[in-house]
Amino acid sequence: MPRSDHSRLTWSRIPRPAYGADYNPEQWDRATWEDDVRLMREADVNLVTLGVFAWSMIEPSPDTFDFSGLDEVMSHLHESGIAVDLATPTAAPPLWFSHAHPESLPVTADGQRLAPGSRQAYCPSSPAYRERAALVTRRLAERYGDHPAVVMWHINNEYANANAHCWCATSADAFRDWLRTRYGDDLDALNDRWGTALWGMHYSDWAQVIPPRTSTGPLSPGRWLDFYRFSDTEHLACFRAERDIVRAHSPGRPVTTNFMTGALRWTDYWRWAREVDIVSNDHYLMSEDPDRAADLAFAADLARGLADGRPWMLMEHSTSGVQWQTRNVAKLPGEMTRNTLTHLARGADAALFFQWRQSAYGPEKWHSAMVPHGGEDTRIWREARALGNTVAGLADIAGSICPPADIALLLDYEAMWALQLPHRPSSDLTCSDVLRDWHRALWSLGLACDLVPAPGDQRLLLVPSLYALSTDTARALEEYAAHGGHLVVGPFSGVVDPHDRVHPGPYPGALRDLLGLRVDEYLPLAAGESVALDDDSTGRLWAERVLPGPDTEVESRFTDGPARGGPAVLRNGNTRYLATRPDFPSLLRFLPRWAAEAGCATPVQGAGHGVEVTRRTAPDGRTWLFAVNHTGHPAEVATTGVDVVSGIRSAGVITIPPGEVAVVAEDPR
Ligand code: GAL
Repeated sequence: MPRSDHSRLTWSRIPRPAYGADYNPEQWDRATWEDDVRLMREADVNLVTLGVFAWSMIEPSPDTFDFSGLDEVMSHLHESGIAVDLATPTAAPPLWFSHAHPESLPVTADGQRLAPGSRQAYCPSSPAYRERAALVTRRLAERYGDHPAVVMWHINNEYANANAHCWCATSADAFRDWLRTRYGDDLDALNDRWGTALWGMHYSDWAQVIPPRTSTGPLSPGRWLDFYRFSDTEHLACFRAERDIVRAHSPGRPVTTNFMTGALRWTDYWRWAREVDIVSNDHYLMSEDPDRAADLAFAADLARGLADGRPWMLMEHSTSGVQWQTRNVAKLPGEMTRNTLTHLARGADAALFFQWRQSAYGPEKWHSAMVPHGGEDTRIWREARALGNTVAGLADIAGSICPPADIALLLDYEAMWALQLPHRPSSDLTCSDVLRDWHRALWSLGLACDLVPAPGDQRLLLVPSLYALSTDTARALEEYAAHGGHLVVGPFSGVVDPHDRVHPGPYPGALRDLLGLRVDEYLPLAAGESVALDDDSTGRLWAERVLPGPDTEVESRFTDGPARGGPAVLRNGNTRYLATRPDFPSLLRFLPRWAAEAGCATPVQGAGHGVEVTRRTAPDGRTWLFAVNHTGHPAEVATTGVDVVSGIRSAGVITIPPGEVAVVAEDPR
């Protein structure tokens, strides 16, 4: 189905751009509910996520369902024109359930069973949990499947956030079953992939196969990787089961679950993205991170990549500080607006907060919200209300997309997991850091970039880190380059297979031919050490002794460090290999050169260095230029049209005051 059609059908009921929040009325009395709806209307809130943690409200004791509270809130919202993203409450099993089924509580690698008392206290493989989750989902979907307020469904909450893995006996059984399927019931195949000849850890009976529980020393990396895949699959099975129940009772309403793209943890979101009707994402700034605006752009670009370029939803972010960081540093005035507009600029058609009203008690009472403890006479409420009015003025952008970028960054979750296991040559060398680093460099340069799971139509494909690599992916990279794509591969890539077994022959086994070289030796650097290159750039963390093939050109060499005199940047046709990790200033020099060589579009004039500029285009050709000025000085950006935010017309150049945003409906070009 063409992208736009899919998008139109999926979003048909959802107001957009959607603006709102997680709404937790169960924390408040009825008088507050009345007030909530009044204030929501004032702030142009048109969508709220309801019921995320409301299991014990809906089912206060086993099989006793009470929907009176939800009924009331839903009709109230509906009468006021506020749509509902109805959540299944399965991220927070009630205490009665946990006490009746202690075996459903997660167990750590050390064998400690976690106690009930907080949310996400369940093992995803637990049959009892799955049964009760299915039941409450069914009852909810039966009751509200065609409720006029419900425009979409939200399953669970941030899968694998607190309970990514469980090492309990039930998980062990499920892990074994999963492995039997994966290896065709062939224990020899498992022994081979996990490399159990090492230390004589050979399995002679399936009963000996257990999750990687804490032992006397390191465990097989292949076993860890399979365990991560298994855990991800178990969470996904929970999601699918609830999704299918909801779909059966609520046809025509899209189903989502909120991702955490910025976290880069244990979920292979490329797999998950195929299972949701709309990609939605939660993003929280690390408030003390000076590069937090770039980090936000990374998470948003990844959400758009997961949505395959279609509009997506920002399901949660914060109006200001969050209590789970060491210091609850407040957002500066205007920052909430810049953050929201950046998500919209990068393809979101919804911007929701966690949460609507700041809790009066509990661990999240110092987490900011749209309605702070102080109520309406507060800076945050005023900004949230004004922002709602701004978002409401952007109705025309709904359904438009960010056109595919010429540059893409490849993200492979399994390769990332493999590199972060212990016992690598350098624990400094991680995949998540280098991806963010390269993305931040592109962001600083004003160069648009997509995140992708595999090579595609982009002109320049950047692969900063791909330690584990299947021969299939290696072949896809070869084809990409053979068809004229420009490829840049970072160090220590193509080294092992998906089981963490070293590819045969000289390094980098899976990429040797494509890159036209071999690596004689990997040379991790000592803490704080760097290496100089003869093109005035600097490498960090890592060096390699590389032997170029006959057709491979050496573009720069190490002038010091353990590979002194040897190649640092090599080029074979339109494929480059880096034998070190360039530091940030070096990336700023390399990237524009590589982009120009690949024929990538140049940045909009005025973009970059803290001035974020993106474009969204509608199927009929209309374009909007989004500009977010993160700097302390006025920014001039080339565009002609009317700024929907300020109403000001610009001819040729728009000036954006420090800290402000513009969304220019551009004149046809
Ligand atoms: C999210 C979670 C929300 C809320 C928020 C606070 O991870 O989904 O329920 O706890 O964090 O920042």
